[in-house]
Amino acid sequence: MSALWTSAEAEAATLGHSSKAFEAIGMSIDTRTLKPGDLFVALTGEARDGHDFVKAAFDAKASAALVSRKLENANGPLLTVGHVQRGLEDLARASRARSNAKIVAVTGSAGKTTTKEMLRLAFGALGATHASAASYNNHWGVPLSLASMPRKTQYGIFEVGMNHFGELRNLVSFVRPHVALVTTIAPAHLEFFGNCEAIADAKSEIFEGLLPGGAALIPADSAYAPRLVARAKQAGVSQILSFGAKGADAKLIGFTETEDGMKVQSEILGRRVDFRIGAPGAHIAGNAVGALLSVGVLEGDVLNAAAAFSQFAALKGRGARFKVKAANGTAEVIDESYNANPASMAAALALLGGANAKRRIAVLGDMLEMGPDGPSHHASLARDIEAARVDTVYLNGPLMKALWDKLPSTHRGGYAETSAENAPLVATALQDGDVVLVKGSLGSRMAAIVDALKARGIAS
Ligand SMILES: Nc1ncnc2c1ncn2[C@@H]1O[C@H](COP(=O)(O)OP(=O)(O)O)[C@@H](O)[C@H]1O
Ligand SMILES: [Mg+2]
Repeated sequence: MSALWTSAEAEAATLGHSSKAFEAIGMSIDTRTLKPGDLFVALTGEARDGHDFVKAAFDAKASAALVSRKLENANGPLLTVGHVQRGLEDLARASRARSNAKIVAVTGSAGKTTTKEMLRLAFGALGATHASAASYNNHWGVPLSLASMPRKTQYGIFEVGMNHFGELRNLVSFVRPHVALVTTIAPAHLEFFGNCEAIADAKSEIFEGLLPGGAALIPADSAYAPRLVARAKQAGVSQILSFGAKGADAKLIGFTETEDGMKVQSEILGRRVDFRIGAPGAHIAGNAVGALLSVGVLEGDVLNAAAAFSQFAALKGRGARFKVKAANGTAEVIDESYNANPASMAAALALLGGANAKRRIAVLGDMLEMGPDGPSHHASLARDIEAARVDTVYLNGPLMKALWDKLPSTHRGGYAETSAENAPLVATALQDGDVVLVKGSLGSRMAAIVDALKARGIAS
């Protein structure tokens, strides 16, 4: 059986009714990316109703559509259920129930997608691996990823996210992992949680979904590690292991930057494992060691898994680097425009600090959803900037004003309300040997800066 879902299986899973027999080979919720043979899920969001796109789905060669109401002149098989979201969740449950795969779930305040992609590579070296696409970690992303898991999967990797209590508990109840990994705890979504203890507690809901005998993997160097351990115990988890610090079950012994990334020395469950990975930074090394601990816990071959990390590359907007033309030569850009919170800001500034540069330039935009302490979380970046020996700082956004006021005038490049105002300033300031870090929350639109730097011309 090669189909992902036959109509009979999908009917049984959802208690729905199929207007015609079909075989789906994949799943999609978006007709723009739908592949021939996919089952189109007509989810209803705030702005759009998926039912309006069923015709487009069939035009793109969908095998069937999961819908909750009759559609006139639909030109393909319709699987009709009471509620599309529930139908998708039913498929996710059925997929999980029929699978013999070992399952890893990843959550954390930063580094979920990065770690998920590392796990994809690591387990991919050992057997048939299925991992969530992109950052599909929410109420539709998790069930969609599960329902898309091929039958013959040996290792399933799922990113799970949340921004309120109860969300992770619900999502992980579908995933039912053998291993639950928390990357890090940091003030993200503080607006909703108030403090980091609450965030650690909300992330700890992931442990409640572990299968009996499953393992909780905890970032040893986090200030919240003891709290995570306590919560895992409360959830009845018997195997609680740590990664990252020197005393951890998976030790990060050291790392050195190379031309194309890092060489990392680690010890995973008592076994020495040295490897190369195609991106630099302490946070990358920490994530990799956590991924290898997942392999070790599932009794996979950690040496083979680690060898696959040479293929890892920093993801777009999350540390990907490129060179651009600059006055008298070239400058390097570190594109961290995808997202930011205090943990990932600190990680990125440390990365800049480690860069081989004539001048270090930081171009930073607001970290959003920080709650009432937002300004002070921004102001305290002054320490990280100092530690990273940053020469010039450009800031944009109302929250970054608090940091601007703390910066010594010698470090001040420019301050503006928006990234669009700073973009030309930064682009014209570039000189040979500069390394420029661009980072901020997605809503701060730091991509405008990256685009302006690219417009100077890509250099090799
Ligand atoms: N373990 C970590 N600790 C702190 N920051 C991290 C870590 N791993 C990655 N990051 C940073 O977080 C940013 C977002 O990474 P990503 O993997 O997309 O996180 P998420 O999926 O949790 O949103 C990256 O650009 C990087 O700067
Ligand atoms: Mg993500």
